[in-house]
Amino acid sequence: MFSTFLLGGICAVVSESALAQTASPRHGDGIADKNLDARVESILRRMTLEEKVGQLVQYSAGQPTGPGTGRTDYDDMIARAQIGSLFNVIDPHEINKYQKIAMEKSRLHIPILFGLDVIHGFKTEFPIPLGLASTWDPSIVEKASRVAAMEAAADGIRWTFSPMVDIARDARWGRMAEGAGEDPFLGSAMAAAYVRGYQGTRLDAADSIAACAKHYVGYGAAEAGRDYNSTEISEHTLRQFYLPPFRAAVEAGAASLMSAFNSLNGVPSTANPFTLKQVLRKEWGFRGLVVSDWNAVGELIPHGIANDGATAARKAFLAGVDMDMVSSLYHDNLQKIVSSGQATQAELDEAVRHVLRVKVALDLFEHPYVDEAAAPKALYHPESIALAQTAAERSFVLLKNASGPGGKALLPLAGGGNENIAVIGPLGDDFSYPGGAPPADAGGGARATPLAAALVQRVGESHVSRFKGVGILDGSDAEIADAVAGTQKADVVILALGETPEMSGEAASRAHLGLPGKQQALLEAIVGTGKPVVLILFSGRPLTLPWAFEHVSAVIAAWLPGIAGGPALVRTLFGDVNPSGKLVVSWPRSVGQEPLYYNHLNTGRPAGDMDLTRPPSDVPSRYLSRYIDEQNTPQFPFGYGGSYTSFSYGATAIDTQRLSAAVLNKDLGAGAGQPAAMTAEAEVTNTGSRPGEEVVQLYIQLLGTSVAEPVRMLKGFRTVSIAPGETKKVKFELRPEDFAIWNDRNQFAAEAAKMNVWVSPDSAHGSPAQAEIVP
Ligand code: BGC
Repeated sequence: MFSTFLLGGICAVVSESALAQTASPRHGDGIADKNLDARVESILRRMTLEEKVGQLVQYSAGQPTGPGTGRTDYDDMIARAQIGSLFNVIDPHEINKYQKIAMEKSRLHIPILFGLDVIHGFKTEFPIPLGLASTWDPSIVEKASRVAAMEAAADGIRWTFSPMVDIARDARWGRMAEGAGEDPFLGSAMAAAYVRGYQGTRLDAADSIAACAKHYVGYGAAEAGRDYNSTEISEHTLRQFYLPPFRAAVEAGAASLMSAFNSLNGVPSTANPFTLKQVLRKEWGFRGLVVSDWNAVGELIPHGIANDGATAARKAFLAGVDMDMVSSLYHDNLQKIVSSGQATQAELDEAVRHVLRVKVALDLFEHPYVDEAAAPKALYHPESIALAQTAAERSFVLLKNASGPGGKALLPLAGGGNENIAVIGPLGDDFSYPGGAPPADAGGGARATPLAAALVQRVGESHVSRFKGVGILDGSDAEIADAVAGTQKADVVILALGETPEMSGEAASRAHLGLPGKQQALLEAIVGTGKPVVLILFSGRPLTLPWAFEHVSAVIAAWLPGIAGGPALVRTLFGDVNPSGKLVVSWPRSVGQEPLYYNHLNTGRPAGDMDLTRPPSDVPSRYLSRYIDEQNTPQFPFGYGGSYTSFSYGATAIDTQRLSAAVLNKDLGAGAGQPAAMTAEAEVTNTGSRPGEEVVQLYIQLLGTSVAEPVRMLKGFRTVSIAPGETKKVKFELRPEDFAIWNDRNQFAAEAAKMNVWVSPDSAHGSPAQAEIVP
C-alpha cells in the first residue's frame, strides 16, 4: 500500500513502511486554523499603534549580548506593551517574572512569546542536525525534536529557532553542522519531521513549541563558504534546491520562518519582497510569523541598501519581515513609518496578526506561565537519553573498515573486550564534544559519558589506557612521543580526533578542512607504530583527510554525537549495533573541490569520474571539466555509508518505460492511456554474515529538458533491515511531481525527456533503468 505526502512542492510516494518513518498525521494545524482568526481580530481591534508595533519587537534578554541587547528597561517596556517576544531567557522563574508584567501590567495583557535556539535538544543533547540527518530516518528526528519540545516547554520556552533547513553544499561553511546537508528531498523530509516533533499533535498543548524554519533563504550558499557572505542563486536553483525544505516546513505547519542574513542576487533576504511576499505568502499561503535574524534589519545598512535605521526598518517591514530581532529599529521607527503613511495601517495589522496568531495558537493567553517546580522534572528522562543514544548510533557513518589482524575487517573489535585498548587523542574524554552548535548545554556535558569512560565501563579499567597525545588546537612533539610509547601494550588504538564544537556552527567557516592543530602529526605517528587503528572523527562537517583514508584501517564519522555519544560509540565499536548512517553531504578530497555536491549539472565537457592517476596517454582529452591536480569525485559520495555486513543490489526494474508529460501535468485529455506514475524497484541482498540496516536510495536523471537538470536527483529513500543471506525487494513509487522541474518558462512542470532511474546504495553507484517521458 502506498500513500502520498508533499515535500517542497514535490510529491513523493513511498511504501507503507517508509511512510511510517516519515509521516505521522499532519500536525501543527495551529496557525492555519481559521478559528483563531476571530480571537486575533478581537485583540487587534483594541490595540493602539504603539501596542501593535510592540508586538513586532523582540530582544535577547540573556546571553549573548550585541546590538540592541543589554537594555535594563525590559520591565518597563513590557508594562508599556513595547515588546512582543524575548529570547535567551532560560530560567523559568525569570520567564514568569517577565510574563507577570505582561499579563498584569500591560493594558491588553498580551503574553510574551519566549524563544531560544533549541537546535538539537534543549538539555538532553542529541547529535547535531547533520548527524541526525545522517540517520536518514525522519522518525528519529521527529522523536528527538519532540523530546526537545517537552523539555523546553516545561522550562517556559514556547518557540525554537529551529529547524535550520538551509541546503549546504560547501563544507567550509560552519553552519553545515546545523542542517540536513545538501539534498532538497532529504532536507524536506527532515524539515517536516522537525516541525512535527516540535509542534506535536497540537500547538496549543503545554508541551508543544512553535518551530521556526531558518534561514530564509539561500544562506547556505554563502560564497566561498564564508558565513554571512552574499549569494547568487538562479531562480531555477532556488526553486528546485533551496526553497523546497522551507516549503516542506510550511506544509508541515511551521508557525514561523526566520529571514536570513545573506543577500540573494543583490537583495538582502531580510528585505526581499520576492521571497518573503511573492513566494512565501502568495504562492505558499503562509499564515505564520516571519522574524528577522539577529540584527538583520540593522545590517541592511552595511549591506548597502539603507543609509539609516529608519530606511532599514521600512525596507524590512515592507518586504515582509514581521518581527525585528534585537536591532530595535522597529521599536524606534515603525510608528512613524506608519503614521507618516510610508507603510499602511493594513500592512501593520497584517504583521501583528501573524504574531498574535502564533500566540493564540500556542494558547499563551490562557496559559502564559510555566510551572517552575515542575520544570526540572521534564529534563533528562532516561527514555530521552536512551533516544539520544539510539540517534547517535544511527548517525555514525562507517567510512572505511579495512582488514585488521588476521585479514578480517578491523571492526567490530574482535576481542570482545579482552584486547588492550589505547584511547588516544584530544576528544577521547572531552566533555565539550556533545555540545556542537549553540547553545552548549551547561548541565548536559557533565552527564555525558565520554568515549574513554564509556570504554572503561564496558571492558574495565585494566583494558583501557588513555593518552591525550595533543590538544585539538595545540600540542607538542613530546606529547606525541608519549602517546606513541603508550601504544606499546595496546592491541588496538582508538584515535579520537576532530574539531572543537566552536569550529562549526555560526561564524565558524574554515578555509582549511584538515585536522586542526597537530592532530595530523599525531595521527601519522600513531599509524606509524603499525598498531591497528580505528579513527573516530568528531566534527561538524566532513574533513579532508586523504592520508587517513589511505593509511588508517577503520574510520567512523561520529559528528558531534550528543549526550550519549560515548556509549553509542562503544556499542558500535563492539558490534552491538551495526552502523547504518549514510552521508548527507559529499565528502571532499580537498578543499579546492568545494562547493561539492552530487546533484550538479553535467557541463558540456564532463570528465565523469575520470581517474587522474591514469597515464596522460590514457586520458582522452585534457579539455574536460576537471582539475589537473585532483579528482572531480568526492572522497565519499553523498548517500555513502558502510556496514559490518555487505549488501548487493540487483538491477533497477521499472514498471513502465514511457510516461506522458501531458498526463504528468494533469492534462489527461492529451495523453490518455499513459500511466501517471512509475514504480522502481531493486532486490537488495545481505551478502555478509551479520544482520544490517541499509538505506536504499532512489535517484532519477532527466535529459533533454528545457533547462539542464542534475546528473542525479534523490527522489526516495527507505531503510530496510535485512538478515544475512536474505534478499528484499525494495520498491518506490515516483509520482508526477517527482518529474517536475522549474522550466524555462518559470513554472514547475514535467517535460519530455529521456530518463535514468537508479535504485542504489548511494549517489555514485548502481546501473540505471531507462525510460522516457513523451510530450
Ligand atoms: C543566528 C540564528 C539564531 C539567532 C538567535 C543568529 O545569530 O544566525 O540562527 O537563531 O542568532 O540566537
